[in-house]
Amino acid sequence: MSVAHYFDTMDYGPAPEADGPARDWLRRHEARFGHFIGGAFRPSAEGGTFETREPATGKPLATLASGTTADVDAAVEAARQAQAHWQKLGGHGRARHLYALARMVQRHGRLLAVLEAIDNGKPIRETRDLDVPLVAWHFLHHAGWAQLQESEFAGYSPLGVVGQIIPWNFPLLMLAWKIAPALALGNTVVLKPAEYTSLTALLFAELASEAGLPDGVLNVVTGPGETGAAIVEHPGIDKIAFTGSTEIGRIIRETTAGSGKKLTLELGGKSPFIVFEDADLDAAVEGVVDAIWFNQGQVCCAGSRLLVQEGIAPEFLMRLKRRMETLRVGSPLDKAVDMGAIVDPVQLRRIEELVAAGIKEGAVAHRAPVALPEGDGSFYPPTLLTEVHPSSIVAREEIFGPVAVAMTFRTPDEAVMLANNSRYGLAASIWSETVGLALDIAPKLQAGVVWINATNLFDAAVGFGGYRESGFGREGGREGALEYLKPDAWANRRPREATPPAEPADGGAQGFELRAIDRTAKLFVGGKQARPDGNGSRVIRSATGAVIGEVGEGNRKDLRNAVAAARAAESWARASTHNRAQILYYLAENLSARAAEFAARIASATGTDGEQEVDVAVRRLFTYGAWADKFDGAVHSPPLRGVALAMHEPIGTVGVVCPDEAPLLAFVSLVAPLIATGNRVVAVPSERHPLSVTDLYQVFETSDLPAGVVNIVTGGREQLAKDLASHDDLDALWVFGSKEAAAAAERLSAGNLKRTLVDDGLALDWHDAKAAEGRIFLNHTVQVKNIWIPYGD
Ligand code: NAI
Ligand code: MG
Repeated sequence: MSVAHYFDTMDYGPAPEADGPARDWLRRHEARFGHFIGGAFRPSAEGGTFETREPATGKPLATLASGTTADVDAAVEAARQAQAHWQKLGGHGRARHLYALARMVQRHGRLLAVLEAIDNGKPIRETRDLDVPLVAWHFLHHAGWAQLQESEFAGYSPLGVVGQIIPWNFPLLMLAWKIAPALALGNTVVLKPAEYTSLTALLFAELASEAGLPDGVLNVVTGPGETGAAIVEHPGIDKIAFTGSTEIGRIIRETTAGSGKKLTLELGGKSPFIVFEDADLDAAVEGVVDAIWFNQGQVCCAGSRLLVQEGIAPEFLMRLKRRMETLRVGSPLDKAVDMGAIVDPVQLRRIEELVAAGIKEGAVAHRAPVALPEGDGSFYPPTLLTEVHPSSIVAREEIFGPVAVAMTFRTPDEAVMLANNSRYGLAASIWSETVGLALDIAPKLQAGVVWINATNLFDAAVGFGGYRESGFGREGGREGALEYLKPDAWANRRPREATPPAEPADGGAQGFELRAIDRTAKLFVGGKQARPDGNGSRVIRSATGAVIGEVGEGNRKDLRNAVAAARAAESWARASTHNRAQILYYLAENLSARAAEFAARIASATGTDGEQEVDVAVRRLFTYGAWADKFDGAVHSPPLRGVALAMHEPIGTVGVVCPDEAPLLAFVSLVAPLIATGNRVVAVPSERHPLSVTDLYQVFETSDLPAGVVNIVTGGREQLAKDLASHDDLDALWVFGSKEAAAAAERLSAGNLKRTLVDDGLALDWHDAKAAEGRIFLNHTVQVKNIWIPYGD
């Protein structure tokens, strides 16, 4: 076709990016790659391989090594050997390396962008303008955290060897999000790229080595899910960071339970894109294009659920359909396409099946009138589904393709309800010209990232990650860095010694100490003392074996009531920080007024110094009264005209299982930080010494603590911990007191992916403020929500 033809028709001509250097790189390796371990490529120990294909053509691209346990062993070994030296290099030493990686990415930007487009099928325009620049920026940002580590993260140390498993939708960007913080803070890495898209990780590792990254600091093992599982199960790994499907995230949660491995999960989403009737409709239409047709819709935070206010819905959908007519789908290397290829025929079929299921349920499909490239490539047209019911499979499941579903709402409240009607909680986008409305809605959405009049904005300084079943942990920013560190104050914890039996040794002379015979402490639920469901009770003995009281034997039903009471006390999350502070001080005051009584109780129960324990407990309440109005978020300045507000939001309803040591102090140390930041708690006090906590009921009742903020269920630790872990309306669970309970809690929490904090059976010194109070706990009481607010037009 001649230039004159395009001049006459004003059609786009093909504008292909040269792929010579990328194909040369493949040829140089004879299109065969081993794992990258200890600074060099090496074949799989057992010789297994698999083929990776080009999404746009279906043609084979390269043969890759299929990682087995032996390969993972070798990679972990290399990483372990490199780690001590890498840590000793210090912050500045590592900052220089991270900076070199950023420069390396910029230098080889074109090669990386082209290889990424070929390997993944995404348009070169996106890899060139978005993926690669963000990757470089991520390394630069984390060079900064390395540089500042000794001052900004004093009292924290690297974890050691980190296993990282990433998906195929942003191969290079996910690599950067994973390895930049890990390496910056002194860890070494074993990374498994996705089986569909391993090439840029291999190229990156090779280039990094050339750029002077020490051998073994970054190891890449390729292979399918089983290779990932071998990493997850490897005993020599200190942390797993995973991005991928919620299904696999759950499996990883179960597998790592009780292992002591740290875990962060960045999982799926079904993010709402809310258009209010006062939105700038044309801007919102462009927003949809970005939200769901960017990267072929294969984006965990894609705005895949369009919620449009009823009055403007017809007009908005009309404009959207008109815009769809101008979208172009074609070769990823064509600089003038909006969409390239779907990563693999498997994913293409998944999209087709889900859309077919949606249509069967009544959805009406509108497809962009595009000509899909011929041949064996995996292409799917931009698609809009209307007449979708909120309960339809296409409104609930992550399609992970270029398919938006549209629904309508009438009022802002209904928008919030529909938006939150999902087990996911990754991102949300709000479109309105009324600042008051947008800023009122943002905090009400269950999502880790909220974009106002924008979508799919990312920045290394702004944390990214989910609420609910979209996973836990953040990538980017200070909170992301903390995920690769552990507190030194917890380093010297020792396995807890077995609690001596409650029965007196001689079996006979137990007697009764001063005791009101009929006083069985009840449970405390919804601000009221409540008899346990089973009407059972357990006898509580002193340090010397004498009977000193009885407490209710709580069961699953009692926990259910307690969780419901905690859920109903939602307004605590919105109480002013000043109000929460005041109540914590008031609790301290009222505990202090009865210090002698509590001290005597503790001394008789545990045989330890009760006065000191009460004194430290009062101080601790003061500490969290102090923090209540000071543990606030941050305002980020990402590279746009605007800000991102990093809000500290409470997690919600939290279960707390307390240890036997320092029964009153441990309870206060665990519950106070949670309520200081607006969570509501269901606590199981020390199984052995619950009486000093059941005595607190009167303190609660006289301190203006709203009903349901703290609920207490006494009974057996192991069973109650398990019941809490499998309760689906609990958002987080802290288990201190036994290794078995900790492991069970982590395993059973996989159902709704609770955030867990457990002690793995290692005892804390609750009297030591360094180990037992402050940010070390507060960081676990909140989830960071980043609200992006661009300024101007
Ligand atoms: P996946 O979750 O199976 O794969 C992600 C990564 O985990 C890959 O590297 C894979 O090899 C690895 N993996 C698989 N099984 C594993 C196991 N048992 N242990 C450890 N690692 C394992 O996702 P897949 O199969 O590629 O895609 C299926 C669906 O998952 C997509 O259609 C999409 O809905 C969702 N997904 C979501 C992503 C997100 O970022 N939210 C990313 C990728 C997929
Ligand atoms: Mg899979």
